[in-house]
Amino acid sequence: MTRYKRQDPEITRRKFINVAMGTTAAVGGVSLLSALGSANPVFRLTADKMPPLEGDILVHAEESKEGRPIALADLSDQLVRAWPMGKDENGADVIRKGDPNNILALYRFPAGEIVAPTNLEATVDGQVVAYSDVCTHAGCSVSDSDINAGEMRCPCHSGQFAPKRGAVVIGGPPPKPLAQLPIRQDGERLVVAGFFLTPPYPYHNNEAEWDNLKQEVEEALA
Ligand code: FES
Repeated sequence: MTRYKRQDPEITRRKFINVAMGTTAAVGGVSLLSALGSANPVFRLTADKMPPLEGDILVHAEESKEGRPIALADLSDQLVRAWPMGKDENGADVIRKGDPNNILALYRFPAGEIVAPTNLEATVDGQVVAYSDVCTHAGCSVSDSDINAGEMRCPCHSGQFAPKRGAVVIGGPPPKPLAQLPIRQDGERLVVAGFFLTPPYPYHNNEAEWDNLKQEVEEALA
């Protein structure tokens, strides 16, 4: 289990702010600006704002069952939204929703339906796959409910992704696929197996900034 060991880390994420504040991201009606705290110009990489980390448990994001660990039986070809849940500096559970860009999309498809360019080794038995649920166009949550099973469409500008094929873009303006999150099964639970395989929003066009964030997270956890 990944533990967050650092007490009140004074990590000033100025480069992160330059990326994040330069957006007009609105995920689920929550602006990134308000999430970071407009009264506090210093973004601190606290446990609730860290990106999904190895060992985090995937929990439901839906309000009625938020925080409940997601089981395989909860999943289908309909999108299920999830948060990563890790530990804070005191060892208490913390849902990493302090950064709304941590919201995830989970799917479960019959064996053989998930294909390249999905990284199958980063799925559970080639049947359960997790992606960033934040659109690479302008940061909306890709959770349009008025779609058919197995489809993925952003409600903001109708960007479409193919969840069986690495969430590649199949329609609309998004410039990049959704980032895939490696996951594994641990008993009844689904667990994060590492960082996103490619830079998620808002880093999707700046791999160096994503690499910097990962390095700072690793240093904070050391
Ligand atoms: S924000 Fe998703 S298509 Fe524009």
